[in-house]
Amino acid sequence: MNPMLLRNFTLLDETGMRGGSVIIEDGCIRELWNGCPEGASFPCTIDGGSLIPGRVLTLMPALVDLHAHFRDPGGQTAEALPAETVESAALAAAAGGYGTVVCMANTKPPIDTLAAAADLKARSDALGLIDLYPALSLTRGMAGRELSEIARIETPLDFPRLLSEDGKDVLDDGLFLAALREARRLKLPVSCHCDAGGGQAEAAKQAGEARRVWSRVEENAATRRALELGRKAGAWIHIAHVSTQEAAALIRSAKKAGGLVSAEAAPHHIALTEDAAQELGEASYGRVNPPLRTGEDRRAVVQALMDGTLDAVATDHAPHTQKDKAAGAPGFSGLETSFAVCLTALVKTGGLSLPRLSALMSAAPARILGLTDRGRIAPGYRGDLCVADTEAVWTVQAAAFRSRGKNTPYQNREVSGRILMTIHRGRIVYETENRQNRNAHV
Ligand code: DOR
Repeated sequence: MNPMLLRNFTLLDETGMRGGSVIIEDGCIRELWNGCPEGASFPCTIDGGSLIPGRVLTLMPALVDLHAHFRDPGGQTAEALPAETVESAALAAAAGGYGTVVCMANTKPPIDTLAAAADLKARSDALGLIDLYPALSLTRGMAGRELSEIARIETPLDFPRLLSEDGKDVLDDGLFLAALREARRLKLPVSCHCDAGGGQAEAAKQAGEARRVWSRVEENAATRRALELGRKAGAWIHIAHVSTQEAAALIRSAKKAGGLVSAEAAPHHIALTEDAAQELGEASYGRVNPPLRTGEDRRAVVQALMDGTLDAVATDHAPHTQKDKAAGAPGFSGLETSFAVCLTALVKTGGLSLPRLSALMSAAPARILGLTDRGRIAPGYRGDLCVADTEAVWTVQAAAFRSRGKNTPYQNREVSGRILMTIHRGRIVYETENRQNRNAHV
């Protein structure tokens, strides 16, 4: 593959921002310059200064997603059309600026063996758009009765990089502890979705409380339990889609006490509240697990991202067909809006710095996955990059999504920041259609 020169950009990663240029060779970053290399000529040159006249564009590490649902295998629905496939999801990820994605095991059948994970990964690798790391479930068939193949994996492998029982959690303490001990042996984080709170939440449900009430009891109780059992087993607990102020406080205390803990927030809990859920329909288009919460919760999640209690942003991309969504299937398609939603809510109106946003969306999730070769712009790192126009203002239109899941809470909303191009291992895998210097250089 020819070396590629990307010149005249603002280079952004977790370490800061500076004007500069990058050479990618053999899929990796070979050199960086402050400014633009004089007289350098490459068959493949992308000039940030001329992509959009008058705009200084940002070149940053491709995003890394710890939590997406690809619905493959088994995305077939009542309408006999898949809600998503590995191909449509990978296209959506590339369009959203993602280079690495973990997809959850709640497929049909669930991903509970290395062979199933390897098959999905191979089908994604063949597309060459992203690196996919399927998460392996903790129990066989995600049925909560016996351990999945995690008990038989002998040494840590290239994948999985994360274990998770997705929204089901493992309700039996003894079995959960056994799974956590295997995770510790394999040195893998366990992503706990904390959507199943056991007795306390059940009691609130039985008492006829509204979903927004019992689901809060559920998330808080399940977060407390995951942190406690994780500590007991000496395992790495990763708390998924934190949405309540109490859960954020529990994670903060666990980290202060030296716990092996990481955590993520989803863009919709960063940007939206229960008001949006009501407008969209709490039982249909506004439904998500965990639900959109109060303004105070939203502010607590943002504060926790700022002070390091939460380590990463993860999309929880959850595509559904229109029919399933109308009938109450929880979740939103998020891969193609997450960067803009986070830039808008956290940077433009929230006071977060761009380097911290890059840390949350690239470097930190890469570290959680143990992928030390990506998430930063530095020589030797992977040539997984994306070009963003942080000044662009655009209106979300789900019809334009690559994802087959067209459910978004941001339909017709204005957001700031647009991904213009995604480069994976030194190859352009996504670009908007209006690049002006296309013929001149590539
Ligand atoms: O709303 C959600 N939907 N949250 C999750 O964590 C799972 C997801 C799904 O699989 O649809």
